[in-house]
Amino acid sequence: MKKLWGGRFTKSAEEWVDEFGASISFDQELVQEDLEGSIAHVTMLASTGIISEDEAAKIKDGLKVLKQKAEQGELQYSVKLEDIHLNLESMLTDIVGPVGGKLHTARSRNDQVATDMHLYLRSEVGQIIQFVEELQKSLLEKAEEHVETLMPGYTHLQRAQPISFGHHLMAYFWMLQRDKERLIESLKRINISPLGAGALAGTTFPIDRLQTADLLGFDGIYENSLDAVSDRDFILEFLSNSSILMMHLSRLSEEFILWSSQEFQFIELDDSFATGSSIMPQKKNPDMAELIRGKTGRVYGNLVGLLTVLKGLPLAYNKDMQEDKEGMFDTVKTVAGSLKIFAGMVSTMKVKKQQMEKATKTDFSNATELADYLSDKGIPFREAHEIVGKLVLLCVEKGCYLGDLPLEEYKNAHPQFNEDIYEVLDPANAVQRRNSAGGTGFKQVEAAIEKAKVILNHK
Ligand code: ARG
Repeated sequence: MKKLWGGRFTKSAEEWVDEFGASISFDQELVQEDLEGSIAHVTMLASTGIISEDEAAKIKDGLKVLKQKAEQGELQYSVKLEDIHLNLESMLTDIVGPVGGKLHTARSRNDQVATDMHLYLRSEVGQIIQFVEELQKSLLEKAEEHVETLMPGYTHLQRAQPISFGHHLMAYFWMLQRDKERLIESLKRINISPLGAGALAGTTFPIDRLQTADLLGFDGIYENSLDAVSDRDFILEFLSNSSILMMHLSRLSEEFILWSSQEFQFIELDDSFATGSSIMPQKKNPDMAELIRGKTGRVYGNLVGLLTVLKGLPLAYNKDMQEDKEGMFDTVKTVAGSLKIFAGMVSTMKVKKQQMEKATKTDFSNATELADYLSDKGIPFREAHEIVGKLVLLCVEKGCYLGDLPLEEYKNAHPQFNEDIYEVLDPANAVQRRNSAGGTGFKQVEAAIEKAKVILNHK
């Protein structure tokens, strides 16, 4: 097969060398974007008079045929033709004849490939934003059901203070909100057009970059042709936003895995999101949560991979940059899949309310209440902390909890303790009273849920 750039070559590479250099096995993912970019380009070539209207119409017809064939999965790619751009150009010429060769006037694969990836990410990031929102909705609905469900809150994975389960779930809602905002913000930089930058220096033809940008729905154009074809920071930004998002999902995965263990028994994942063991009949494993925690690794890897590819590259295009694609495709697939799974997992999970509440009653996570109680009566908090610490120690020695100590012991510890401490020790009261802004008090959680609903409805 004749190479489209074969003019200055006297011999061709062996097949295995071609194969090593080719990107068609993965960049065929960009087929629709490439064709859209070409349609915009050829439209502009005609309206600027660089080629005739008649030639442009023929080329456009050919491109449309290819678009339809691509949709139907009827295109046959060849490794010999290296990448999606050269494959499509060659197919176009097969359909429309030599006039197809005019399509590449005033264009290089360098601005072409960058354009394709901008178009691709624009649409995929838009989709991912939707998926984030779906998961936020699931979390919000679950949280709303569990505003008054008590659970132990942890620091150092040690029981710390009782909290509302709804509050815990809403923590992830807000993390996802920031993830979503980062993605939305990044669209500003994704949605600019490199097309018309040429190989690196622009072109002698009287092209109209604003027209192609407009036709492709871009908000503007790259100001510098070298920058346009040689930076991939818009992909890095996506990979980095995705890494942060996956980090959040991974933490929630870890919590789901813990909570569904025999040791915690706080939730039960629905059968449709769990798997069994081939040997142990009793097993119900939280595979999907584990897999998402695991897949976070590959997303970080894709970010570090591309950062490393780019770090030493002189301007402008270098073939190294062909390595920008697989990590991007893989990340899109991984993030979208993880978000979809999570939304289903959250909305179908069973919350073992009684188990959770029982846990708040069989620990010392109400100790802060007692210290607050004393400091409310004017005792310096440090002193109150010490007194309550001693009471906890006494309980540990006696093998009981704070609520089990008789008032007498409290009076011995400090005369300001009164009968009402038992109410203060009740975890439901402890949670309810944490009414500071953003706290776990039921009123605060309800208010946060209302705020979140407004945010979700005002996109
Ligand atoms: N397949 C190439 C890539 O993905 C397209 C750009 C090739 N440009 C070039 N000058 N060889 O990077």
